[in-house]
Amino acid sequence: MLRSVILGTGSALPQRVMTNAEMESLVETSDDWIQQRTGIKQRHIAGEGETTVSLGERAAREALAAAGLAPDDIDLIIVATATPDNTFPASAVQIQRRLGITAGYAFDLQAVCSGFVYALTTADLHLRSGLARRALVIGAETFSRILDWTDRTTCVLFGDGAAAVVLERREEESEAGRGILTAKLRSDGSHFEKLYVDGGPSTTGTVGQLRMEGREVFKHAVGMITDVVEDSFAALGITADDIDWFVPHQANRRIIDASAKKLGIAPEKVVMTVDRHGNTSAASIPLALDVARRDGRIKPGDLVLLEAMGGGFTWGAVVVRW
Ligand code: ACO
Repeated sequence: MLRSVILGTGSALPQRVMTNAEMESLVETSDDWIQQRTGIKQRHIAGEGETTVSLGERAAREALAAAGLAPDDIDLIIVATATPDNTFPASAVQIQRRLGITAGYAFDLQAVCSGFVYALTTADLHLRSGLARRALVIGAETFSRILDWTDRTTCVLFGDGAAAVVLERREEESEAGRGILTAKLRSDGSHFEKLYVDGGPSTTGTVGQLRMEGREVFKHAVGMITDVVEDSFAALGITADDIDWFVPHQANRRIIDASAKKLGIAPEKVVMTVDRHGNTSAASIPLALDVARRDGRIKPGDLVLLEAMGGGFTWGAVVVRW
Protein backbone atom coordinates (compact mmCIF):
# COMPACT_ATOMS: atom_id res chain seq x y z
CA MET A 1 0.00 0.00 0.00
CA LEU A 2 1.21 3.52 -0.76
CA ARG A 3 1.60 6.05 2.03
CA SER A 4 2.61 9.73 2.24
CA VAL A 5 5.44 9.96 4.76
CA ILE A 6 6.54 13.20 6.48
CA LEU A 7 10.30 13.61 5.93
CA GLY A 8 10.95 17.02 7.45
CA THR A 9 9.45 20.14 9.01
CA GLY A 10 10.45 23.80 9.07
CA SER A 11 9.11 27.10 10.30
CA ALA A 12 9.53 30.86 10.07
CA LEU A 13 8.32 33.52 12.46
CA PRO A 14 8.43 37.29 11.99
CA GLN A 15 11.21 38.99 13.89
CA ARG A 16 8.94 41.24 15.92
CA VAL A 17 7.38 39.83 19.09
CA MET A 18 4.37 41.66 20.45
CA THR A 19 3.56 41.01 24.11
CA ASN A 20 0.22 41.37 25.87
CA ALA A 21 1.66 44.41 27.63
CA GLU A 22 2.01 46.11 24.23
CA MET A 23 -1.63 45.21 23.47
CA GLU A 24 -2.62 47.15 26.59
CA SER A 25 -1.37 50.33 24.91
CA LEU A 26 -3.54 49.73 21.79
CA VAL A 27 -6.91 48.61 23.16
CA GLU A 28 -8.60 48.38 26.56
CA THR A 29 -7.38 44.97 27.65
CA SER A 30 -4.98 43.39 30.12
CA ASP A 31 -2.31 40.71 30.17
CA ASP A 32 -4.42 38.95 32.82
CA TRP A 33 -7.59 38.89 30.68
CA ILE A 34 -5.78 37.64 27.61
CA GLN A 35 -3.87 34.91 29.47
CA GLN A 36 -6.87 33.73 31.46
CA ARG A 37 -9.28 33.57 28.51
CA THR A 38 -6.86 32.34 25.82
CA GLY A 39 -3.47 31.26 27.24
CA ILE A 40 -1.74 33.71 24.88
CA LYS A 41 1.29 35.61 26.25
CA GLN A 42 2.76 36.95 23.01
CA ARG A 43 2.53 36.68 19.23
CA HIS A 44 4.82 37.49 16.27
CA ILE A 45 3.78 40.32 13.94
CA ALA A 46 5.10 40.65 10.38
CA GLY A 47 7.12 43.78 9.69
CA GLU A 48 7.96 45.50 6.45
CA GLY A 49 9.05 42.99 3.80
CA GLU A 50 7.73 40.04 5.79
CA THR A 51 4.79 38.53 3.94
CA THR A 52 2.95 35.22 3.63
CA VAL A 53 5.16 34.33 0.65
CA SER A 54 8.47 35.35 2.26
CA LEU A 55 7.69 33.54 5.51
CA GLY A 56 6.42 30.53 3.55
CA GLU A 57 9.62 30.41 1.52
CA ARG A 58 11.78 30.47 4.68
CA ALA A 59 9.73 27.68 6.24
CA ALA A 60 9.92 25.63 3.03
CA ARG A 61 13.73 25.94 2.87
CA GLU A 62 14.01 24.79 6.50
CA ALA A 63 11.72 21.83 5.87
CA LEU A 64 13.72 20.83 2.78
CA ALA A 65 16.96 21.01 4.79
CA ALA A 66 15.43 18.87 7.56
CA ALA A 67 14.34 16.33 4.93
CA GLY A 68 17.77 16.38 3.25
CA LEU A 69 16.20 17.35 -0.07
CA ALA A 70 16.72 20.10 -2.66
CA PRO A 71 13.98 22.28 -4.18
CA ASP A 72 14.27 20.30 -7.42
CA ASP A 73 13.09 17.17 -5.61
CA ILE A 74 9.65 18.74 -5.09
CA ASP A 75 6.88 18.45 -7.72
CA LEU A 76 3.88 19.68 -5.70
CA ILE A 77 3.47 22.73 -3.46
CA ILE A 78 0.26 23.47 -1.59
CA VAL A 79 0.02 26.63 0.49
CA ALA A 80 -2.81 26.81 3.00
CA THR A 81 -3.54 30.49 3.56
CA ALA A 82 -6.37 32.97 3.98
CA THR A 83 -3.94 35.90 3.70
CA PRO A 84 -2.15 35.53 0.34
CA ASP A 85 0.31 38.16 -0.92
CA ASN A 86 -1.85 38.80 -3.98
CA THR A 87 -5.36 37.80 -5.02
CA PHE A 88 -3.46 35.96 -7.76
CA PRO A 89 -1.13 34.36 -8.66
CA ALA A 90 -1.30 31.90 -5.81
CA SER A 91 1.24 32.25 -2.99
CA ALA A 92 2.26 28.64 -3.73
CA VAL A 93 3.27 29.58 -7.27
CA GLN A 94 5.22 32.58 -5.95
CA ILE A 95 7.06 30.31 -3.49
CA GLN A 96 7.70 27.82 -6.32
CA ARG A 97 9.35 30.65 -8.24
CA ARG A 98 11.45 31.81 -5.27
CA LEU A 99 12.66 28.24 -4.76
CA GLY A 100 13.62 28.04 -8.44
CA ILE A 101 11.31 25.08 -9.10
CA THR A 102 10.09 24.88 -12.69
CA ALA A 103 8.64 21.36 -12.71
CA GLY A 104 5.42 20.09 -11.21
CA TYR A 105 2.58 22.28 -9.98
CA ALA A 106 1.58 24.55 -7.09
CA PHE A 107 -1.67 25.98 -5.78
CA ASP A 108 -3.24 27.65 -2.73
CA LEU A 109 -5.95 26.15 -0.59
CA GLN A 110 -8.36 28.19 1.50
CA ALA A 111 -9.91 26.63 4.58
CA VAL A 112 -8.83 29.30 7.08
CA CYS A 113 -7.67 27.72 10.35
CA SER A 114 -8.37 24.21 9.04
CA GLY A 115 -6.21 24.98 6.00
CA PHE A 116 -3.24 22.83 7.02
CA VAL A 117 -5.39 19.77 7.73
CA TYR A 118 -7.17 20.24 4.38
CA ALA A 119 -3.86 20.79 2.53
CA LEU A 120 -2.15 17.78 4.10
CA THR A 121 -5.12 15.59 3.14
CA THR A 122 -5.12 16.99 -0.41
CA ALA A 123 -1.37 16.47 -0.83
CA ASP A 124 -1.71 12.90 0.46
CA LEU A 125 -4.32 12.16 -2.23
CA HIS A 126 -2.20 13.73 -4.98
CA LEU A 127 0.84 11.70 -3.93
CA ARG A 128 -0.94 8.37 -3.58
CA SER A 129 -2.76 8.86 -6.90
CA GLY A 130 0.60 9.20 -8.65
CA LEU A 131 0.07 12.82 -9.76
CA ALA A 132 3.13 13.87 -7.76
CA ARG A 133 5.95 12.20 -5.82
CA ARG A 134 7.15 14.73 -3.24
CA ALA A 135 5.18 17.64 -1.82
CA LEU A 136 5.77 20.74 0.24
CA VAL A 137 2.71 21.52 2.34
CA ILE A 138 2.95 25.00 3.80
CA GLY A 139 0.69 26.85 6.23
CA ALA A 140 1.49 30.57 6.00
CA GLU A 141 -0.44 33.55 7.33
CA THR A 142 -0.19 37.25 8.04
CA PHE A 143 -3.46 37.70 9.92
CA SER A 144 -2.14 40.95 11.45
CA ARG A 145 -2.98 42.55 8.08
CA ILE A 146 -6.69 41.65 8.21
CA LEU A 147 -7.26 42.52 11.87
CA ASP A 148 -9.25 45.48 13.11
CA TRP A 149 -6.67 46.84 15.54
CA THR A 150 -9.39 48.81 17.36
CA ASP A 151 -11.42 45.66 18.15
CA ARG A 152 -10.15 44.15 21.40
CA THR A 153 -12.34 41.06 20.97
CA THR A 154 -10.28 39.89 17.98
CA CYS A 155 -6.93 41.71 17.68
CA VAL A 156 -5.44 40.15 20.82
CA LEU A 157 -5.98 36.60 19.54
CA PHE A 158 -3.97 36.29 16.33
CA GLY A 159 -0.34 36.21 15.18
CA ASP A 160 1.70 35.76 11.99
CA GLY A 161 3.95 32.90 10.91
CA ALA A 162 4.56 30.03 8.54
CA ALA A 163 5.59 26.40 8.71
CA ALA A 164 6.01 23.56 6.26
CA VAL A 165 6.30 19.80 5.97
CA VAL A 166 7.85 17.72 3.19
CA LEU A 167 5.90 14.62 2.17
CA GLU A 168 7.05 11.71 0.02
CA ARG A 169 5.13 8.79 -1.47
CA ARG A 170 6.53 5.49 -0.18
CA GLU A 171 5.62 1.82 -0.12
CA GLU A 172 4.15 1.10 3.31
CA GLU A 173 5.81 -2.33 3.57
CA SER A 174 9.28 -0.78 3.64
CA GLU A 175 8.30 1.92 6.13
CA ALA A 176 6.83 0.06 9.13
CA GLY A 177 3.40 1.65 8.78
CA ARG A 178 4.68 5.24 8.63
CA GLY A 179 2.70 7.98 6.93
CA ILE A 180 -0.75 9.58 6.88
CA LEU A 181 -3.17 6.89 8.08
CA THR A 182 -6.53 8.61 7.91
CA ALA A 183 -8.15 12.01 7.43
CA LYS A 184 -11.65 13.36 8.05
CA LEU A 185 -12.76 16.73 6.69
CA ARG A 186 -16.01 18.64 7.33
CA SER A 187 -17.55 22.03 6.55
CA ASP A 188 -20.84 23.76 7.29
CA GLY A 189 -21.40 27.13 5.61
CA SER A 190 -24.40 28.00 7.77
CA HIS A 191 -21.97 29.42 10.35
CA PHE A 192 -20.64 32.20 8.03
CA GLU A 193 -21.60 35.11 10.32
CA LYS A 194 -19.75 33.73 13.33
CA LEU A 195 -16.32 34.11 11.75
CA TYR A 196 -15.64 35.88 8.45
CA VAL A 197 -13.75 38.69 6.72
CA ASP A 198 -15.97 41.62 5.76
CA GLY A 199 -14.37 42.26 2.37
CA GLY A 200 -13.08 40.56 -0.73
CA PRO A 201 -12.37 41.08 -4.44
CA SER A 202 -15.89 40.25 -5.61
CA THR A 203 -17.90 42.09 -2.93
CA THR A 204 -16.17 45.22 -1.66
CA GLY A 205 -13.06 45.20 -3.79
CA THR A 206 -11.08 45.49 -0.57
CA VAL A 207 -9.18 43.02 1.59
CA GLY A 208 -11.54 43.48 4.53
CA GLN A 209 -11.15 42.78 8.22
CA LEU A 210 -11.79 39.76 10.41
CA ARG A 211 -15.09 39.68 12.32
CA MET A 212 -15.86 37.08 14.93
CA GLU A 213 -18.48 36.20 17.52
CA GLY A 214 -15.94 34.55 19.79
CA ARG A 215 -18.41 33.10 22.26
CA GLU A 216 -20.39 31.46 19.43
CA VAL A 217 -17.23 29.96 17.90
CA PHE A 218 -16.21 28.66 21.31
CA LYS A 219 -19.64 27.05 21.83
CA HIS A 220 -19.27 24.91 18.70
CA ALA A 221 -15.53 24.24 18.72
CA VAL A 222 -15.11 21.43 21.26
CA GLY A 223 -18.06 19.38 19.96
CA MET A 224 -16.98 19.65 16.33
CA ILE A 225 -13.34 18.83 17.11
CA THR A 226 -14.07 15.81 19.28
CA ASP A 227 -16.64 14.48 16.79
CA VAL A 228 -14.22 14.44 13.85
CA VAL A 229 -11.39 13.02 15.98
CA GLU A 230 -13.63 10.19 17.25
CA ASP A 231 -14.55 9.40 13.62
CA SER A 232 -10.82 9.17 12.82
CA PHE A 233 -10.21 6.85 15.79
CA ALA A 234 -13.12 4.64 14.68
CA ALA A 235 -11.76 4.46 11.11
CA LEU A 236 -8.44 3.14 12.44
CA GLY A 237 -9.83 1.04 15.30
CA ILE A 238 -7.72 2.95 17.86
CA THR A 239 -8.42 4.86 21.08
CA ALA A 240 -7.00 8.00 22.67
CA ASP A 241 -4.52 5.80 24.57
CA ASP A 242 -2.81 4.87 21.28
CA ILE A 243 -2.00 8.52 20.49
CA ASP A 244 1.53 9.66 21.38
CA TRP A 245 1.10 13.36 20.55
CA PHE A 246 -1.97 15.57 20.12
CA VAL A 247 -1.12 18.60 17.95
CA PRO A 248 -4.28 20.72 17.72
CA HIS A 249 -4.90 24.02 15.95
CA GLN A 250 -3.72 26.65 18.42
CA ALA A 251 -6.67 29.04 18.81
CA ASN A 252 -7.28 29.05 22.51
CA ARG A 253 -5.87 27.12 25.45
CA ARG A 254 -9.32 26.54 26.92
CA ILE A 255 -10.61 24.94 23.68
CA ILE A 256 -7.51 22.71 23.48
CA ASP A 257 -7.73 21.65 27.16
CA ALA A 258 -11.47 20.94 26.91
CA SER A 259 -11.05 18.95 23.67
CA ALA A 260 -8.19 16.85 25.09
CA LYS A 261 -10.17 16.19 28.27
CA LYS A 262 -13.32 15.15 26.38
CA LEU A 263 -11.25 12.85 24.13
CA GLY A 264 -9.40 11.34 27.10
CA ILE A 265 -5.96 12.50 25.94
CA ALA A 266 -3.51 13.06 28.82
CA PRO A 267 -2.34 16.71 29.21
CA GLU A 268 1.35 15.69 28.84
CA LYS A 269 0.62 14.46 25.29
CA VAL A 270 -0.74 17.84 24.15
CA VAL A 271 1.62 20.10 22.18
CA MET A 272 0.78 23.70 23.13
CA THR A 273 2.31 26.74 21.42
CA VAL A 274 -0.60 29.20 21.59
CA ASP A 275 1.18 30.97 24.49
CA ARG A 276 4.06 32.12 22.22
CA HIS A 277 2.47 32.19 18.74
CA GLY A 278 -1.17 33.19 19.33
CA ASN A 279 -3.59 31.90 16.71
CA THR A 280 -1.67 31.76 13.41
CA SER A 281 -4.57 30.12 11.53
CA ALA A 282 -3.30 27.64 8.88
CA ALA A 283 0.28 27.95 10.19
CA SER A 284 -0.48 26.92 13.77
CA ILE A 285 -0.39 23.11 13.42
CA PRO A 286 2.83 22.89 11.36
CA LEU A 287 4.45 25.47 13.69
CA ALA A 288 3.57 23.28 16.67
CA LEU A 289 4.75 20.15 14.81
CA ASP A 290 8.07 21.82 14.07
CA VAL A 291 8.56 22.86 17.70
CA ALA A 292 7.78 19.36 19.00
CA ARG A 293 9.95 17.62 16.40
CA ARG A 294 12.93 19.90 17.03
CA ASP A 295 12.75 19.64 20.82
CA GLY A 296 12.73 15.83 20.49
CA ARG A 297 9.19 15.11 21.63
CA ILE A 298 7.89 13.77 18.27
CA LYS A 299 10.06 10.83 17.16
CA PRO A 300 9.89 8.38 14.25
CA GLY A 301 7.19 5.78 14.89
CA ASP A 302 5.04 8.07 17.08
CA LEU A 303 1.30 8.25 16.39
CA VAL A 304 0.38 11.92 16.01
CA LEU A 305 -3.14 13.37 15.97
CA LEU A 306 -3.76 16.71 14.23
CA GLU A 307 -7.06 18.60 14.31
CA ALA A 308 -8.38 22.03 13.45
CA MET A 309 -11.55 24.07 13.29
CA GLY A 310 -12.03 27.46 11.69
CA GLY A 311 -14.06 29.95 9.65
CA GLY A 312 -16.89 28.61 7.52
CA PHE A 313 -17.05 26.56 9.65
CA THR A 314 -14.46 24.10 8.41
CA TRP A 315 -12.95 21.39 10.57
CA GLY A 316 -11.04 18.15 10.30
CA ALA A 317 -8.54 15.69 11.72
CA VAL A 318 -5.54 13.72 10.43
CA VAL A 319 -3.74 10.81 12.10
CA VAL A 320 -0.15 10.26 11.03
CA ARG A 321 2.49 7.68 11.99
CA TRP A 322 5.66 9.83 12.14
N1 ACO B 1 -9.77 42.42 26.86
C1 ACO B 1 -10.59 42.65 27.89
N2 ACO B 1 -11.91 42.38 27.84
C2 ACO B 1 -12.38 41.84 26.72
C3 ACO B 1 -11.57 41.56 25.60
C4 ACO B 1 -10.21 41.89 25.71
N3 ACO B 1 -9.33 41.67 24.71
N4 ACO B 1 -12.32 41.04 24.63
C5 ACO B 1 -13.57 40.94 25.11
N5 ACO B 1 -13.61 41.45 26.37
C6 ACO B 1 -14.76 41.55 27.25
C7 ACO B 1 -16.07 41.51 26.49
O1 ACO B 1 -16.40 42.77 26.01
C8 ACO B 1 -17.02 41.03 27.56
O2 ACO B 1 -17.36 42.11 28.37
P1 ACO B 1 -18.87 42.28 28.95
O3 ACO B 1 -19.06 41.08 29.80
O4 ACO B 1 -18.79 43.58 29.69
O5 ACO B 1 -19.74 42.28 27.74
C9 ACO B 1 -16.18 40.08 28.40
O6 ACO B 1 -14.81 40.40 28.08
C10 ACO B 1 -16.42 38.62 28.07
O7 ACO B 1 -16.46 38.44 26.67
P2 ACO B 1 -16.71 37.06 26.02
O8 ACO B 1 -16.66 37.21 24.54
O9 ACO B 1 -17.91 36.40 26.62
O10 ACO B 1 -15.41 36.27 26.53
P3 ACO B 1 -15.05 34.77 26.37
O11 ACO B 1 -14.83 34.17 27.68
O12 ACO B 1 -15.98 34.06 25.43
O13 ACO B 1 -13.63 34.87 25.68
C11 ACO B 1 -12.73 34.61 23.47
C12 ACO B 1 -13.52 35.49 24.41
C13 ACO B 1 -11.33 34.49 24.02
C14 ACO B 1 -12.70 35.26 22.10
C15 ACO B 1 -13.39 33.23 23.41
O14 ACO B 1 -14.76 33.35 23.17
C16 ACO B 1 -12.78 32.38 22.34
O15 ACO B 1 -11.64 31.99 22.40
N6 ACO B 1 -13.60 32.01 21.35
C17 ACO B 1 -13.14 31.16 20.28
C18 ACO B 1 -12.43 32.00 19.32
C19 ACO B 1 -11.60 31.17 18.45
O16 ACO B 1 -11.08 30.14 18.84
N7 ACO B 1 -11.50 31.63 17.27
C20 ACO B 1 -10.68 31.07 16.34
C21 ACO B 1 -11.19 29.75 15.84
S1 ACO B 1 -11.20 29.74 14.16
C22 ACO B 1 -9.80 30.39 13.74
O17 ACO B 1 -8.82 30.03 14.32
C23 ACO B 1 -9.81 31.43 12.65
